Amino acid sequence: MRTSGVLPLVLAAAGTQVAAQTSVSVGAPSASIVPAGPATGKLGNATVTTKNPQGVVYQATFPDTPFFKGAYPDGGNIKGTLTAVANPSGQGIIFTFNWKNLPKKGGPFMYHLHVDPVPENGNCTATLAHLDPFIRFEDPVCDKAHPETCQTGDLSGKFGDIPEGQTEFSATFPDLYSSTEEGLGSFFGNRSIVFHYANKTRVSCANFVKVAGDSHGGHGASESPCSTATGPHATGHANLTTTTSRPASGTSTPAPTTTPSGPALSIGSSLQASAAGVIAFGAALMFLL
Ligand SMILES: *[C@@H]1O[C@H](CO)[C@@H](O)[C@H](O)[C@H]1NC(C)=O
Ligand SMILES: *[C@@H]1O[C@H](CO)[C@@H](O)[C@H](O)[C@H]1NC(C)=O
Ligand SMILES: *[C@@H]1O[C@H](CO)[C@@H](O)[C@H](O)[C@H]1NC(C)=O
Ligand SMILES: *[C@@H]1O[C@H](CO)[C@@H](O)[C@H](O)[C@H]1NC(C)=O
Ligand SMILES: *[C@@H]1O[C@H](CO)[C@@H](O)[C@H](O)[C@H]1NC(C)=O
Repeated sequence: MRTSGVLPLVLAAAGTQVAAQTSVSVGAPSASIVPAGPATGKLGNATVTTKNPQGVVYQATFPDTPFFKGAYPDGGNIKGTLTAVANPSGQGIIFTFNWKNLPKKGGPFMYHLHVDPVPENGNCTATLAHLDPFIRFEDPVCDKAHPETCQTGDLSGKFGDIPEGQTEFSATFPDLYSSTEEGLGSFFGNRSIVFHYANKTRVSCANFVKVAGDSHGGHGASESPCSTATGPHATGHANLTTTTSRPASGTSTPAPTTTPSGPALSIGSSLQASAAGVIAFGAALMFLL
């Protein structure tokens, strides 16, 4: 509660669409009776996530080849990462997009968190539907003025589609309804991001992996005193962490490791730097209060 003043600041800093939160939905003639306005999930509106662990960083990196080969007839794929860290207050997540080489046609593009991870064969269809723990379904489309009424996984619904003709997408958005706390339905650390054409064809997809931070039993192997946990098991069939480099001992120092290694490590360290930037940014905002 004491940090509740921080979020509006972070939100205000992050973009224009948030300002629209106060505006009234125009299309709904009588929102009080008929659910024709913003959709509400069967389980209600999405709830703000409040216990997202500090220092934990998840990242999804697109593979070298797309799922829909027609998107890149000359080879290649979307390049880059989507990085997620907890807001410094623990409330909600800050997503940082760093995408390049977007498809030239087929926009505006959409991007969503999907329920399941991508299997090893890269089959984006196998990621199933959008992450939708409040059972809201896709229609009507997300009203970004009321993000709590959107599917938690409908990131482009909440942050905006990417227009065609734009080859890069670099942006940072706060999302109060996603989570890096294992056990919640809105937890996406064991799931995937899918990049779609406007016609919904899945162009490419990538799994989130934990690249920084230790939460208890992060590998699903060392389950210590978890008897107090009441939620569903965090260790599903998906292997959460693959071969990602992790910082030495759980601290989020932005200093890059000196171990000689390939490009994976440099991605890791630039990620840590950018994550540290986001955290510093949030911390600076807290100081303003
Ligand atoms: C869901 O949020 C919308 C928009 O803020 C609101 O109109 C509606 O009453 C909420 N529904 C519930 C069940 O809280
Ligand atoms: C979807 O759009 C892409 C890009 O315009 C196109 O190549 C593809 O054939 C379309 N798929 C369907 C099912 O219409
Ligand atoms: C991809 O996954 C879908 C959904 O699980 C499945 O129907 C399809 O057969 C899979 N395709 C391949 C090539 O594995
Ligand atoms: C992902 O984690 C959530 C919450 O811990 C869990 O409910 C879900 O079953 C997991 N999904 C997969 C595919 O492992
Ligand atoms: C997960 O990792 C374990 C140990 O490396 C391996 O035995 C298992 O087959 C993996 N499961 C999947 C679904 O990849």
